[in-house]
Amino acid sequence: MTARREVSSAGRSSPAAWQTASGPATPGPAIELTGAAAQIGGRTIWQDVSVRVGHGAFVALLGANGSGKSTLLKAALGALPLSAGSATVLGQAPGAANRSIGYLPQRRSFDQGTRLRGRDIVRLGLDGDRWGLPLPLAWGGPGARRRAAHDRVDEVIEMVGAGSYADRPIGESSGGEQQRLLIAQALVRRPELLLLDEPLDSLDLPNQAAVAALVAEICRGAGVAVLLVAHDVNPLLPYIDSVIYLAGGRAVEGPVEQVITDATLTRLYGLPVEVLRASDGRLVVVGQPDPPAHHHDRHAHDGHPAAAPGNGG
Ligand SMILES: Nc1ncnc2c1ncn2[C@@H]1O[C@H](COP(=O)(O)OP(=O)(O)OP(=O)(O)O)[C@@H](O)[C@H]1O
Ligand SMILES: [Mg+2]
Repeated sequence: MTARREVSSAGRSSPAAWQTASGPATPGPAIELTGAAAQIGGRTIWQDVSVRVGHGAFVALLGANGSGKSTLLKAALGALPLSAGSATVLGQAPGAANRSIGYLPQRRSFDQGTRLRGRDIVRLGLDGDRWGLPLPLAWGGPGARRRAAHDRVDEVIEMVGAGSYADRPIGESSGGEQQRLLIAQALVRRPELLLLDEPLDSLDLPNQAAVAALVAEICRGAGVAVLLVAHDVNPLLPYIDSVIYLAGGRAVEGPVEQVITDATLTRLYGLPVEVLRASDGRLVVVGQPDPPAHHHDRHAHDGHPAAAPGNGG
């Protein structure tokens, strides 16, 4: 395990709209896994994983296709029980604090024909159906609650800069616009922790940079801890406090300059891996193995090094 860096939210500006419902209720790390292992269908996906996401920290979760990044988010949500080790999320057992977590699942696409507006998608994040929990949004009768919900939805739409397209059917919005609306959905309950599974996926480079900056602003603005799954660390380099890198069924955690190195990645993959730094600071990782052949998903066709974490995009 490499050195960890925890970043507190102290001293950051805290625009009211971004504040969590109860302030920094959890002074400890947002996520802590100790000697953790996950199994699916009897197969171990990763093991001996000891990592932490500090309170208010921005952490990237990297690794090749099938390395178990989404599995780690599901374990943090309590959706997949650990097969070994222990975990706390916002100071509680995984699953217990889910109402304080904003979760963006891996790439969802909306049918062109869907009539749901962007605003309706954001509103779904409030309605509690995701976790089956009621939302104590406001006291008073249903009218007052409806107004408070409406105002909060407006507020987060404004925060992510989606005002000009939130009233259109979401199927008519571009991928980048949809991502902003989905981030708004994850934010609408004022979470203390955001778990974002590939929010930069399928965005062009300017939009990757813009969404990365938006997430960083949310993190810094209100001390919301963020664990963000990505295939390319480069758009995140200006913002992240540390990375968790999954490979070969293990994890390494630490600052980028300690983790994305020849030595660390070679050890993790068990194969010679070279990290090149371009003159503009971008990192290119050369020599990573292809994703496992049994992994079938939308990435299966692009298992070349350019799709791997740390690469230039
Ligand atoms: N429901 C499932 N049943 C069987 N195997 C599964 C299931 N979900 C995931 N896996 C397997 O677990 C491993 C880790 O999957 P996971 O989705 O966590 O990877 P990932 O790192 O998120 O990959 P990607 O970059 O493609 O999203 C993969 O080998 C995958 O095939
Ligand atoms: Mg995944």
